Amino acid sequence: MNSFELNKVLGAILGTCLVLVALNIGANALFATPKLTKPGYVIAVSTGGAEKKPEVKKEVPIAELLQHANVDKGKNIAKQCQACHTLEKGGPNRVGPNLYGIVGDERGKDRGGFNFSAAMKAKGGKWTFDELNKFLTNPRNYIQGTAMTFAGLSRDDQRADVIAYLRTLSDNPVPLPPPPAAPAKPAEAPKAAPAAPAAPAK
Ligand code: HEC
Repeated sequence: MNSFELNKVLGAILGTCLVLVALNIGANALFATPKLTKPGYVIAVSTGGAEKKPEVKKEVPIAELLQHANVDKGKNIAKQCQACHTLEKGGPNRVGPNLYGIVGDERGKDRGGFNFSAAMKAKGGKWTFDELNKFLTNPRNYIQGTAMTFAGLSRDDQRADVIAYLRTLSDNPVPLPPPPAAPAKPAEAPKAAPAAPAAPAK
């Protein structure tokens, strides 16, 4: 191959490269992909243990929140839970246990053989409305060492909606708690502090 021929070959290669570069620039201009402003689907997951949130929110009792809860909205919010939980009767356990009939049920027990964390088993007690409310606010804060990495639902209304929906997933839904008793009737308050009857809610 003489040097003239070699030049031709090199020229052809160089030319092809130039065309490719030009095509690439043109294509980028034509089919520019806009940056996603928000990801398609986010599952809030907390990585750390009990992270401190500088929240100084007044706690509204769940009995009161449930008065305005919306089961349909709750059903929608519960889609986040379904990344890890099945909700239907007899549904399988996934990352988390099946949640059918969870309201009023014992904590960390008899969920189709689900292997609960030691922390969950140690906590004991039942999933009352109040307990669910506290847990779902920030699971890893309320039960340190729980295997549920879900970050929690910080909004009162969303928690109430989801709990109201969970309540319906039962053969025998637990009755809704009565509206929080007026300050004059301390005996009626479901889980109110026994002392200081007429204390204004703080
Ligand atoms: C990232 C996965 C994940 C998501 C999302 C998730 N969970 Fe869980 N959940 C778990 C795991 C794992 C456990 C078992 C925790 C343990 O053993 O400490 C659990 C346990 C629970 C329990 C206790 C069950 C029992 O029998 O004691 C409840 C109640 C619960 N989850 C409710 C919810 C709700 C409601 C949502 C949605 C708002 C949700 N979870 C979202 C993984 C998840």
